[in-house]
Amino acid sequence: MIHSEKLKQIKSLETNANSCQSCELAKTRTNVVFGSGSIDAEIFFIGEGPGQEEDLQALPFVGRSGKLLTRLIEEELEIPRSDCYIANIVKCRPPANRNPLPQESASCTPFLIKQLEIISPKVIITLGNVATQYLLETKEGITKLRGRFFQFSDFHIMPTFHPAAALRSGAVVVAQMRADFATAKHYIEQSQR
Ligand code: URA
Repeated sequence: MIHSEKLKQIKSLETNANSCQSCELAKTRTNVVFGSGSIDAEIFFIGEGPGQEEDLQALPFVGRSGKLLTRLIEEELEIPRSDCYIANIVKCRPPANRNPLPQESASCTPFLIKQLEIISPKVIITLGNVATQYLLETKEGITKLRGRFFQFSDFHIMPTFHPAAALRSGAVVVAQMRADFATAKHYIEQSQR
């Protein structure tokens, strides 16, 4: 798809998302957090849902987790964050940062699928258990799933930890995230040969 067509489609999807009332989260949100980044991104990150800061700024991963994510993108993928695309399973903040309910995730998924179809990334990196288990339809934990590739529709998913887990757990988890980002980078380089 040509760049201008992608841009038109993503903008129209964002306009639809901004007025979405499909689930209860619409009642408590400040803003819809549609997603941000390059529509030509090769890497598409998926988190679980906006937190407080994201809800206020209408941007994904702008709080403490986001700062770590940005640092790992710059240091391990060696690209600016703005070259990736970042979105969440649910586009509206779950109250008190609880996990999204299955019905909330399900009603928001068509937006995510359309974002993926328009952007058509080479790799999707899911961040943490919630996003990974939801998309891969598994109960397996992130420690087992991380750093490996899984097929999801026409896409390749590589799960890694959520940066919030890295902030809680410390250096070992950060090192594992770095290794997973390096795996994704290597995969993309291979696919360009
Ligand atoms: N955690 C998430 O899963 N997503 C965000 O956008 C921010 C924090």
